[in-house]
Amino acid sequence: MSVALDLSTPTLAPAPGARRTRVVTRKPARSRTELSAQRNLAPDLGAQHNIAGPLAPWWKLVPRRYGHVFHAMCSYMGMFPPSLPRYFIEQYSKPGDLVLDPFSGRGTTALEACLRGRVGVGLDLNPLAALLSEAKVDPPTHAEALARLHEIRSSYRRSAVTEKAPPEIAMLFDGRRTLPQLMHLRACLQGSSKREDRFLLAALVGILHGNHPRNPMDSRCLSVSMPNTFSMSPGYLKKYIHQNGLKKYPLDAFEKLAQRLEHLYAQPLAPTRGRAIHADALALHEHVAPKSAKLIVTSPPYLNVVRYGKFNWIRLWMMGESVQNVDASLTDRTRTNLEVERTDRQLGLSDRLGFRRYCAFLRDAVIECARALSDDGVCIMTIGDVENGEHDKRLALDAWRAIADEVPLELHSVIEDRLWTENKVSRIWGENKGRATRVERVLVLTRKGCPLPRANFTDPSEIVLQMSRETPGAMRSIPGIDHDPRAAV
Ligand SMILES: C[S@@+](CC[C@H](N)C(=O)[O-])C[C@H]1O[C@@H](n2cnc3c(N)ncnc32)[C@H](O)[C@@H]1O
Repeated sequence: MSVALDLSTPTLAPAPGARRTRVVTRKPARSRTELSAQRNLAPDLGAQHNIAGPLAPWWKLVPRRYGHVFHAMCSYMGMFPPSLPRYFIEQYSKPGDLVLDPFSGRGTTALEACLRGRVGVGLDLNPLAALLSEAKVDPPTHAEALARLHEIRSSYRRSAVTEKAPPEIAMLFDGRRTLPQLMHLRACLQGSSKREDRFLLAALVGILHGNHPRNPMDSRCLSVSMPNTFSMSPGYLKKYIHQNGLKKYPLDAFEKLAQRLEHLYAQPLAPTRGRAIHADALALHEHVAPKSAKLIVTSPPYLNVVRYGKFNWIRLWMMGESVQNVDASLTDRTRTNLEVERTDRQLGLSDRLGFRRYCAFLRDAVIECARALSDDGVCIMTIGDVENGEHDKRLALDAWRAIADEVPLELHSVIEDRLWTENKVSRIWGENKGRATRVERVLVLTRKGCPLPRANFTDPSEIVLQMSRETPGAMRSIPGIDHDPRAAV
């Protein structure tokens, strides 16, 4: 069953000492065929899944493949399914509104906002995230991107490439053809602020590494056969290449990039342009005007579960960035004076960032979000539970409890979003699988004292059906979740 905690509705006010948990029971999931047949009949989806009202995980019903092709430009750990920001954009903003994500990642929120005629703004401290977000919300036309690629290709002379790649890069790419081409592309694109160059670089980092199909020359990726989602460490890769006898194939980087552009431009561009900013979320006030955002849909990093620099070292090399700098900059440097000892002990977390420092970071980030949010705005913040090998940590709820009195936003509701574990990237990342996020909690926040604005769609099935019509594939069901009394705030 899915659980929604409404923290403001008077009818849910608990009896003294009782927990304020509203549990919505769910009927057994229907078969995919049944669901897709029903989709065409405009079914009452809410009744089928026993969910009601705008604050339920409606986006989970949308076919898995929903999303503009730009979303898949480059994989990124911890990314939103595009249906999640789309759902809240439809419900709590109007065309022309500014929709913000201060932890933008691959730019899912900002792109979805632009696709729906809003102005999507993404901010991220990771240069890879900023690059991807920027490419998506401010792209060149296909013709402009191709023209620039043609120009770069025409200027390529293998004999003119004199710079040597570091050995950990050289072991991944064919040295006769692919690597010199990459070196040339790198020299032309890195550091450039031209729209075409930023887009080409974003598309290129998306195909730098990945698994090969049966015929390796048909691969869309340029490296030896390896995961696309993240970069294994150089030492591990060296062993992996040796043990599996992996070969480097002379793949043409220019040709593969041109093919990638063809694919990326198969769908129309968004009707509005947005903005991506490479900056610290704690400096949001320097980049976004006060009270200018109607909606924030964001997901801060969770207790240092992902090392965004280290796991992207190949892509960052291509961008001319230092992995060490990226990880160091993303590490929480905030000192704390929060009184959270009790919660800290309860959690027993031994994570690198530490719960207390995480809370201080989150508090400061929420204060920044509050500054940017309009009075009638809504802030949606998704935080995953973190498992430390004993039992689930309800990170979102515990952290919120620690900071609630110190921030200008209040928690209106919590929507639980249970993830199918097989979806999680961390499943292929054996040594850390114990720390996978399994339940995400979607915090619905408003300015203190301000009510949650009325949602645009009284029947949210309309949004689900619209997204489903845009997407091939069957509609999904909402994963079951046992009632967990600890979920009460
Ligand atoms: C969970 S991911 C967000 C993913 C995003 N929702 C998406 O769909 O791709 C968290 C992001 O926070 C970024 N980050 C970490 N510390 C940051 C900071 N101080 N300021 C801005 N971004 C930061 C990381 O680089 C990462 O991209």
